[in-house]
Amino acid sequence: MRISRDYRTLAREENGTLVWFWIGKHDEYIRRIRHQDNQKLSLKIILMLTIGNLNIPDFPLLLAPMEDVSDPPFRAVCKENGADLMYTEFISSEALIRDAAQSVAKLDIFEAEKPIGIQIFGHNIEVMRESVEITERVQPNIIDINYGCPVKKVTCKGAGAGILQDIPKMVKMTAEMVKATELPVTVKTRLGWDDNTKYIVEVAERLQDVGIRAIAIHGRTRRQMYKGEADWTLIGKIKDNPRMNIPVFGNGDVDSPQKASQMRQQYGVDGIMIGRAAIGYPWIFNEIKHYFATGKLLPPPSIDERIAVFRKHLDFSIEWKGLKLGLLEMRRHYTNYFKSIPHVKPFRYRLVTCDSYDGVLGIVEELRKHAYQYTERTDQFAYSPSPN
Ligand SMILES: Cc1cc2nc3c(=O)[nH]c(=O)nc-3n(C[C@H](O)[C@H](O)[C@H](O)COP(=O)(O)O)c2cc1C
Repeated sequence: MRISRDYRTLAREENGTLVWFWIGKHDEYIRRIRHQDNQKLSLKIILMLTIGNLNIPDFPLLLAPMEDVSDPPFRAVCKENGADLMYTEFISSEALIRDAAQSVAKLDIFEAEKPIGIQIFGHNIEVMRESVEITERVQPNIIDINYGCPVKKVTCKGAGAGILQDIPKMVKMTAEMVKATELPVTVKTRLGWDDNTKYIVEVAERLQDVGIRAIAIHGRTRRQMYKGEADWTLIGKIKDNPRMNIPVFGNGDVDSPQKASQMRQQYGVDGIMIGRAAIGYPWIFNEIKHYFATGKLLPPPSIDERIAVFRKHLDFSIEWKGLKLGLLEMRRHYTNYFKSIPHVKPFRYRLVTCDSYDGVLGIVEELRKHAYQYTERTDQFAYSPSPN
Protein backbone atom coordinates (compact mmCIF):
# COMPACT_ATOMS: atom_id res chain seq x y z
CA MET A 1 0.00 0.00 0.00
CA ARG A 2 1.25 3.47 -0.78
CA ILE A 3 0.08 6.83 0.43
CA SER A 4 0.46 9.78 -1.85
CA ARG A 5 0.47 12.99 0.17
CA ASP A 6 0.09 15.23 -2.90
CA TYR A 7 -3.17 13.81 -4.02
CA ARG A 8 -4.33 12.54 -0.67
CA THR A 9 -5.04 9.11 -1.98
CA LEU A 10 -4.65 5.67 -0.57
CA ALA A 11 -4.12 3.12 -3.27
CA ARG A 12 -3.78 -0.62 -3.30
CA GLU A 13 -3.82 -3.30 -5.92
CA GLU A 14 -6.52 -5.94 -5.72
CA ASN A 15 -6.39 -8.73 -8.34
CA GLY A 16 -4.93 -6.53 -11.06
CA THR A 17 -7.22 -3.63 -10.30
CA LEU A 18 -5.77 -0.52 -8.77
CA VAL A 19 -8.20 0.48 -6.07
CA TRP A 20 -8.03 4.11 -5.16
CA PHE A 21 -9.53 5.62 -2.09
CA TRP A 22 -9.91 9.24 -3.04
CA ILE A 23 -9.82 11.65 -0.14
CA GLY A 24 -10.65 15.10 -1.38
CA LYS A 25 -12.95 17.11 -3.54
CA HIS A 26 -14.68 15.43 -6.46
CA ASP A 27 -13.44 17.89 -9.07
CA GLU A 28 -9.85 17.21 -8.00
CA TYR A 29 -10.51 13.54 -8.45
CA ILE A 30 -11.95 13.98 -11.92
CA ARG A 31 -8.89 16.00 -12.97
CA ARG A 32 -6.64 13.31 -11.57
CA ILE A 33 -8.50 10.61 -13.48
CA ARG A 34 -7.88 12.52 -16.72
CA HIS A 35 -4.15 12.43 -15.93
CA GLN A 36 -4.44 8.69 -15.62
CA ASP A 37 -6.16 8.14 -18.98
CA ASN A 38 -3.16 6.47 -20.56
CA GLN A 39 -2.61 4.11 -17.72
CA LYS A 40 -3.23 0.48 -18.61
CA LEU A 41 -4.25 -0.64 -15.16
CA SER A 42 -7.96 -0.81 -14.57
CA LEU A 43 -9.05 1.56 -11.89
CA LYS A 44 -11.70 1.34 -9.25
CA ILE A 45 -12.20 4.58 -7.40
CA ILE A 46 -13.73 4.76 -3.98
CA LEU A 47 -14.52 8.31 -3.02
CA MET A 48 -13.91 9.13 0.59
CA LEU A 49 -14.99 11.93 2.86
CA THR A 50 -12.75 13.38 5.53
CA ILE A 51 -13.71 14.37 9.07
CA GLY A 52 -10.44 15.49 10.61
CA ASN A 53 -8.21 12.42 10.53
CA LEU A 54 -11.10 10.08 9.79
CA ASN A 55 -11.81 8.89 6.25
CA ILE A 56 -15.21 7.37 5.57
CA PRO A 57 -17.05 6.45 2.36
CA ASP A 58 -18.28 9.40 0.37
CA PHE A 59 -21.84 10.53 1.06
CA PRO A 60 -22.13 8.64 4.34
CA LEU A 61 -25.41 7.71 5.96
CA LEU A 62 -25.26 8.50 9.64
CA LEU A 63 -27.24 6.97 12.47
CA ALA A 64 -28.50 9.86 14.60
CA PRO A 65 -27.77 10.00 18.30
CA MET A 66 -30.99 9.07 20.10
CA GLU A 67 -31.38 8.86 23.85
CA ASP A 68 -32.31 5.35 25.03
CA VAL A 69 -32.26 4.16 21.41
CA SER A 70 -28.75 4.52 19.95
CA ASP A 71 -27.21 1.99 22.31
CA PRO A 72 -24.75 -0.79 21.34
CA PRO A 73 -27.45 -3.39 20.43
CA PHE A 74 -29.27 -0.98 18.14
CA ARG A 75 -26.03 0.32 16.70
CA ALA A 76 -24.96 -3.25 15.92
CA VAL A 77 -28.00 -3.92 13.73
CA CYS A 78 -27.72 -0.52 12.04
CA LYS A 79 -24.05 -1.12 11.27
CA GLU A 80 -24.86 -4.51 9.75
CA ASN A 81 -27.45 -2.86 7.59
CA GLY A 82 -25.34 -0.09 6.14
CA ALA A 83 -24.89 2.80 8.61
CA ASP A 84 -21.53 4.41 7.80
CA LEU A 85 -21.07 6.52 10.89
CA MET A 86 -22.91 6.23 14.16
CA TYR A 87 -23.20 8.22 17.35
CA THR A 88 -23.91 7.28 20.91
CA GLU A 89 -26.91 8.82 22.61
CA PHE A 90 -26.01 12.08 24.36
CA ILE A 91 -24.04 11.83 27.59
CA SER A 92 -24.11 14.44 30.33
CA SER A 93 -20.71 16.05 30.88
CA GLU A 94 -21.65 16.78 34.50
CA ALA A 95 -22.45 13.11 35.09
CA LEU A 96 -19.21 12.03 33.40
CA ILE A 97 -17.01 14.10 35.63
CA ARG A 98 -18.96 12.84 38.68
CA ASP A 99 -18.24 9.32 37.39
CA ALA A 100 -21.96 8.46 37.46
CA ALA A 101 -22.20 4.78 36.51
CA GLN A 102 -25.16 5.09 34.14
CA SER A 103 -23.46 7.79 32.07
CA VAL A 104 -20.04 6.15 32.13
CA ALA A 105 -21.69 2.97 30.75
CA LYS A 106 -22.80 4.98 27.72
CA LEU A 107 -19.14 5.43 26.82
CA ASP A 108 -18.89 1.72 26.02
CA ILE A 109 -18.10 1.34 22.36
CA PHE A 110 -16.93 -1.68 20.39
CA GLU A 111 -14.24 -2.00 17.75
CA ALA A 112 -16.75 -3.49 15.28
CA GLU A 113 -18.96 -0.44 15.34
CA LYS A 114 -16.24 2.04 14.44
CA PRO A 115 -16.22 4.69 13.13
CA ILE A 116 -18.25 6.04 16.00
CA GLY A 117 -18.79 9.41 17.61
CA ILE A 118 -19.53 9.94 21.28
CA GLN A 119 -21.93 12.79 21.92
CA ILE A 120 -21.72 14.91 25.04
CA PHE A 121 -23.74 17.83 26.32
CA GLY A 122 -23.53 20.39 29.09
CA HIS A 123 -23.59 24.08 29.93
CA ASN A 124 -20.32 24.58 31.80
CA ILE A 125 -17.30 25.13 29.56
CA GLU A 126 -14.75 23.78 32.05
CA VAL A 127 -16.85 20.67 32.73
CA MET A 128 -17.31 20.09 29.00
CA ARG A 129 -13.56 20.41 28.50
CA GLU A 130 -12.88 17.89 31.27
CA SER A 131 -15.46 15.50 29.87
CA VAL A 132 -13.65 15.60 26.53
CA GLU A 133 -10.58 14.25 28.30
CA ILE A 134 -12.63 11.46 29.89
CA THR A 135 -14.32 10.61 26.59
CA GLU A 136 -11.03 10.54 24.72
CA ARG A 137 -9.84 7.64 26.89
CA VAL A 138 -12.24 5.17 25.25
CA GLN A 139 -10.89 6.16 21.82
CA PRO A 140 -13.92 7.06 19.77
CA ASN A 141 -13.29 8.38 16.27
CA ILE A 142 -15.18 11.60 16.92
CA ILE A 143 -16.35 13.70 19.85
CA ASP A 144 -19.67 15.30 19.03
CA ILE A 145 -21.24 18.20 20.90
CA ASN A 146 -24.99 18.26 21.37
CA TYR A 147 -26.33 21.74 20.74
CA GLY A 148 -29.72 20.47 19.63
CA CYS A 149 -31.57 18.83 22.52
CA PRO A 150 -34.85 20.73 22.93
CA VAL A 151 -35.92 19.23 26.28
CA LYS A 152 -36.65 21.88 28.90
CA LYS A 153 -34.60 20.37 31.71
CA VAL A 154 -31.55 20.54 29.41
CA THR A 155 -32.17 23.89 27.69
CA CYS A 156 -33.13 25.79 30.85
CA LYS A 157 -29.54 25.43 32.03
CA GLY A 158 -28.22 26.63 28.68
CA ALA A 159 -27.18 23.17 27.47
CA GLY A 160 -28.31 21.38 24.28
CA ALA A 161 -30.32 23.75 22.08
CA GLY A 162 -30.39 26.19 25.02
CA ILE A 163 -26.99 27.46 23.93
CA LEU A 164 -28.53 28.73 20.69
CA GLN A 165 -29.62 31.72 22.81
CA ASP A 166 -25.99 32.54 23.53
CA ILE A 167 -23.95 32.12 20.35
CA PRO A 168 -20.72 33.68 21.72
CA LYS A 169 -20.73 31.07 24.51
CA MET A 170 -21.43 28.32 21.97
CA VAL A 171 -18.40 29.40 19.94
CA LYS A 172 -16.19 29.69 23.04
CA MET A 173 -17.24 26.30 24.41
CA THR A 174 -16.60 24.68 21.05
CA ALA A 175 -13.17 26.29 20.75
CA GLU A 176 -12.18 25.03 24.20
CA MET A 177 -13.32 21.52 23.38
CA VAL A 178 -11.43 21.49 20.10
CA LYS A 179 -8.30 22.59 21.95
CA ALA A 180 -8.75 19.84 24.54
CA THR A 181 -8.37 16.92 22.11
CA GLU A 182 -6.56 15.60 19.08
CA LEU A 183 -9.76 13.84 17.99
CA PRO A 184 -12.05 15.51 15.47
CA VAL A 185 -14.79 17.47 17.22
CA THR A 186 -18.13 17.75 15.45
CA VAL A 187 -21.39 19.52 16.28
CA LYS A 188 -25.03 18.58 16.00
CA THR A 189 -27.47 21.42 16.27
CA ARG A 190 -30.68 23.00 15.02
CA LEU A 191 -31.54 25.99 12.81
CA GLY A 192 -31.85 28.34 15.77
CA TRP A 193 -33.78 28.84 18.98
CA ASP A 194 -36.99 30.02 17.27
CA ASP A 195 -38.24 31.48 13.99
CA ASN A 196 -36.64 34.84 14.76
CA THR A 197 -33.18 33.47 15.50
CA LYS A 198 -32.36 31.09 12.68
CA TYR A 199 -28.68 32.07 12.57
CA ILE A 200 -27.38 28.66 11.56
CA VAL A 201 -25.59 29.79 8.37
CA GLU A 202 -23.42 32.23 10.33
CA VAL A 203 -23.13 29.88 13.31
CA ALA A 204 -21.84 27.01 11.14
CA GLU A 205 -19.10 29.24 9.74
CA ARG A 206 -18.06 30.47 13.18
CA LEU A 207 -17.90 26.92 14.51
CA GLN A 208 -15.82 25.87 11.52
CA ASP A 209 -13.47 28.77 12.24
CA VAL A 210 -12.81 27.49 15.76
CA GLY A 211 -11.98 24.04 14.45
CA ILE A 212 -14.96 21.69 14.23
CA ARG A 213 -14.50 19.06 11.53
CA ALA A 214 -18.14 18.45 10.52
CA ILE A 215 -21.59 19.68 11.39
CA ALA A 216 -24.98 17.96 11.40
CA ILE A 217 -28.08 20.10 11.34
CA HIS A 218 -31.61 19.08 12.24
CA GLY A 219 -33.85 21.29 10.11
CA ARG A 220 -36.03 22.53 12.96
CA THR A 221 -35.75 25.21 15.62
CA ARG A 222 -35.75 24.41 19.32
CA ARG A 223 -39.22 25.93 19.59
CA GLN A 224 -40.53 23.44 17.05
CA MET A 225 -39.30 20.49 19.12
CA TYR A 226 -40.27 17.69 16.70
CA LYS A 227 -43.38 19.35 15.29
CA GLY A 228 -44.03 20.46 11.73
CA GLU A 229 -41.85 19.50 8.84
CA ALA A 230 -38.07 19.77 8.88
CA ASP A 231 -36.92 22.61 6.64
CA TRP A 232 -33.59 21.99 4.92
CA THR A 233 -33.45 25.34 3.10
CA LEU A 234 -30.90 26.84 5.48
CA ILE A 235 -28.88 23.63 5.45
CA GLY A 236 -28.63 24.11 1.68
CA LYS A 237 -27.55 27.75 2.29
CA ILE A 238 -24.70 26.55 4.49
CA LYS A 239 -23.53 24.38 1.60
CA ASP A 240 -23.79 27.40 -0.72
CA ASN A 241 -21.46 29.40 1.53
CA PRO A 242 -18.11 29.31 -0.32
CA ARG A 243 -16.21 29.66 2.98
CA MET A 244 -17.53 26.35 4.26
CA ASN A 245 -15.21 23.44 3.66
CA ILE A 246 -16.16 20.92 6.36
CA PRO A 247 -18.77 18.22 5.70
CA VAL A 248 -22.35 19.33 6.31
CA PHE A 249 -24.84 16.61 7.16
CA GLY A 250 -28.58 17.16 6.80
CA ASN A 251 -31.02 15.71 9.30
CA GLY A 252 -34.75 15.67 9.74
CA ASP A 253 -37.63 13.56 8.44
CA VAL A 254 -35.70 11.35 6.01
CA ASP A 255 -37.72 8.15 6.02
CA SER A 256 -37.33 6.64 2.56
CA PRO A 257 -34.78 6.25 -0.24
CA GLN A 258 -36.72 8.70 -2.39
CA LYS A 259 -36.71 11.36 0.31
CA ALA A 260 -32.98 10.86 0.88
CA SER A 261 -32.35 11.25 -2.84
CA GLN A 262 -34.50 14.38 -3.00
CA MET A 263 -32.67 16.01 -0.07
CA ARG A 264 -29.28 15.06 -1.49
CA GLN A 265 -30.07 16.61 -4.85
CA GLN A 266 -31.94 19.64 -3.63
CA TYR A 267 -29.62 20.74 -0.82
CA GLY A 268 -26.20 19.37 -1.84
CA VAL A 269 -25.39 18.03 1.62
CA ASP A 270 -22.36 15.80 2.19
CA GLY A 271 -24.31 13.03 3.91
CA ILE A 272 -27.59 12.34 5.63
CA MET A 273 -28.29 11.58 9.26
CA ILE A 274 -31.25 9.34 10.02
CA GLY A 275 -32.98 8.95 13.34
CA ARG A 276 -36.57 7.85 13.81
CA ALA A 277 -36.90 6.03 10.49
CA ALA A 278 -34.18 3.60 11.61
CA ILE A 279 -35.96 2.65 14.82
CA GLY A 280 -37.10 -0.94 14.26
CA TYR A 281 -36.12 -0.52 10.62
CA PRO A 282 -32.31 -0.65 10.30
CA TRP A 283 -32.70 -1.73 6.65
CA ILE A 284 -33.27 1.92 5.73
CA PHE A 285 -29.50 2.51 5.34
CA ASN A 286 -28.92 -0.20 2.74
CA GLU A 287 -32.19 0.61 1.03
CA ILE A 288 -31.05 4.19 0.53
CA LYS A 289 -27.61 3.10 -0.67
CA HIS A 290 -29.13 0.69 -3.16
CA TYR A 291 -31.43 3.38 -4.48
CA PHE A 292 -28.54 5.82 -4.90
CA ALA A 293 -26.51 3.19 -6.76
CA THR A 294 -29.25 1.80 -9.02
CA GLY A 295 -32.28 4.11 -8.92
CA LYS A 296 -34.30 1.06 -7.87
CA LEU A 297 -35.99 0.19 -4.61
CA LEU A 298 -34.94 -2.94 -2.77
CA PRO A 299 -37.78 -5.25 -1.84
CA PRO A 300 -38.69 -4.80 1.82
CA PRO A 301 -37.31 -7.36 4.27
CA SER A 302 -39.30 -10.56 4.56
CA ILE A 303 -41.00 -11.46 7.82
CA ASP A 304 -38.28 -14.06 8.42
CA GLU A 305 -35.58 -11.44 7.97
CA ARG A 306 -37.38 -9.03 10.25
CA ILE A 307 -37.66 -11.64 12.94
CA ALA A 308 -34.01 -12.66 12.55
CA VAL A 309 -32.76 -9.09 12.96
CA PHE A 310 -35.24 -8.44 15.74
CA ARG A 311 -33.93 -11.48 17.64
CA LYS A 312 -30.35 -10.40 17.21
CA HIS A 313 -31.28 -6.98 18.56
CA LEU A 314 -33.26 -8.47 21.44
CA ASP A 315 -30.55 -10.92 22.45
CA PHE A 316 -27.83 -8.28 22.42
CA SER A 317 -30.12 -5.95 24.33
CA ILE A 318 -30.61 -8.51 27.10
CA GLU A 319 -26.95 -9.45 27.14
CA TRP A 320 -26.06 -5.78 27.40
CA LYS A 321 -28.62 -4.52 29.90
CA GLY A 322 -29.89 -7.59 31.68
CA LEU A 323 -33.23 -9.30 31.19
CA LYS A 324 -35.59 -6.76 32.69
CA LEU A 325 -34.19 -3.57 31.17
CA GLY A 326 -33.24 -5.32 27.93
CA LEU A 327 -36.84 -6.41 27.37
CA LEU A 328 -38.27 -3.09 28.51
CA GLU A 329 -36.12 -0.99 26.21
CA MET A 330 -36.91 -3.18 23.19
CA ARG A 331 -40.53 -2.10 23.42
CA ARG A 332 -39.95 1.14 21.52
CA HIS A 333 -38.68 -0.95 18.56
CA TYR A 334 -41.57 -3.43 18.23
CA THR A 335 -43.89 -1.16 16.26
CA ASN A 336 -41.51 -0.66 13.38
CA TYR A 337 -40.05 -4.16 13.28
CA PHE A 338 -43.51 -5.48 12.54
CA LYS A 339 -44.98 -2.55 10.67
CA SER A 340 -47.42 -3.07 7.82
CA ILE A 341 -48.30 -6.68 8.65
CA PRO A 342 -52.11 -6.82 8.46
CA HIS A 343 -53.93 -6.92 11.80
CA VAL A 344 -50.70 -6.69 13.79
CA LYS A 345 -52.10 -4.48 16.56
CA PRO A 346 -53.08 -7.22 19.06
CA PHE A 347 -49.61 -8.76 18.69
CA ARG A 348 -47.98 -5.42 19.34
CA TYR A 349 -50.06 -4.94 22.45
CA ARG A 350 -49.05 -8.36 23.75
CA LEU A 351 -45.39 -7.71 22.96
CA VAL A 352 -45.25 -4.39 24.82
CA THR A 353 -46.87 -5.91 27.89
CA CYS A 354 -44.89 -9.13 27.94
CA ASP A 355 -42.07 -9.29 30.48
CA SER A 356 -40.49 -12.67 29.77
CA TYR A 357 -37.99 -13.60 27.08
CA ASP A 358 -39.72 -16.89 26.18
CA GLY A 359 -43.04 -15.07 26.15
CA VAL A 360 -41.74 -12.53 23.61
CA LEU A 361 -40.28 -15.27 21.42
CA GLY A 362 -43.57 -17.18 21.56
CA ILE A 363 -45.56 -14.13 20.45
CA VAL A 364 -43.09 -13.48 17.64
CA GLU A 365 -43.47 -17.08 16.41
CA GLU A 366 -47.26 -16.65 16.41
CA LEU A 367 -46.75 -13.43 14.51
CA ARG A 368 -44.66 -15.26 11.92
CA LYS A 369 -47.47 -17.79 11.36
CA HIS A 370 -50.04 -15.00 11.33
CA ALA A 371 -48.05 -13.18 8.63
CA TYR A 372 -47.75 -16.38 6.55
CA GLN A 373 -51.55 -16.58 6.42
CA TYR A 374 -51.69 -13.47 4.31
CA THR A 375 -49.17 -14.44 1.74
CA GLU A 376 -46.92 -17.28 0.83
CA ARG A 377 -44.29 -14.78 -0.10
CA THR A 378 -43.22 -13.34 3.19
CA ASP A 379 -41.54 -10.36 1.60
CA GLN A 380 -44.77 -8.78 0.55
CA PHE A 381 -45.36 -6.51 3.51
CA ALA A 382 -44.15 -3.28 2.03
CA TYR A 383 -42.65 -0.83 4.45
CA SER A 384 -44.67 2.31 4.85
CA PRO A 385 -43.36 5.17 6.99
CA SER A 386 -46.75 5.76 8.60
CA PRO A 387 -47.54 3.48 11.53
CA ASN A 388 -50.49 1.18 11.05
C1 LIG B 1 -36.07 9.16 20.98
C2 LIG B 1 -35.15 10.23 20.49
C3 LIG B 1 -34.01 10.54 21.21
C4 LIG B 1 -33.13 11.53 20.74
N1 LIG B 1 -31.97 11.76 21.43
C5 LIG B 1 -31.03 12.61 20.89
C6 LIG B 1 -29.73 12.72 21.48
O1 LIG B 1 -29.38 12.06 22.46
N2 LIG B 1 -28.87 13.58 20.87
C7 LIG B 1 -29.19 14.33 19.77
O2 LIG B 1 -28.37 15.09 19.25
N3 LIG B 1 -30.41 14.21 19.20
C8 LIG B 1 -31.32 13.36 19.72
N4 LIG B 1 -32.51 13.19 19.09
C9 LIG B 1 -32.76 13.90 17.82
C10 LIG B 1 -32.32 13.02 16.62
O3 LIG B 1 -30.93 12.81 16.64
C11 LIG B 1 -32.71 13.69 15.29
O4 LIG B 1 -32.07 14.94 15.21
C12 LIG B 1 -34.20 13.92 15.13
O5 LIG B 1 -34.93 12.76 15.53
C13 LIG B 1 -34.57 14.28 13.70
O6 LIG B 1 -34.15 13.28 12.80
P1 LIG B 1 -35.18 12.18 12.20
O7 LIG B 1 -36.31 12.94 11.59
O8 LIG B 1 -34.37 11.42 11.22
O9 LIG B 1 -35.65 11.37 13.38
C14 LIG B 1 -33.42 12.24 19.55
C15 LIG B 1 -34.58 11.93 18.85
C16 LIG B 1 -35.44 10.94 19.29
C17 LIG B 1 -36.66 10.62 18.48
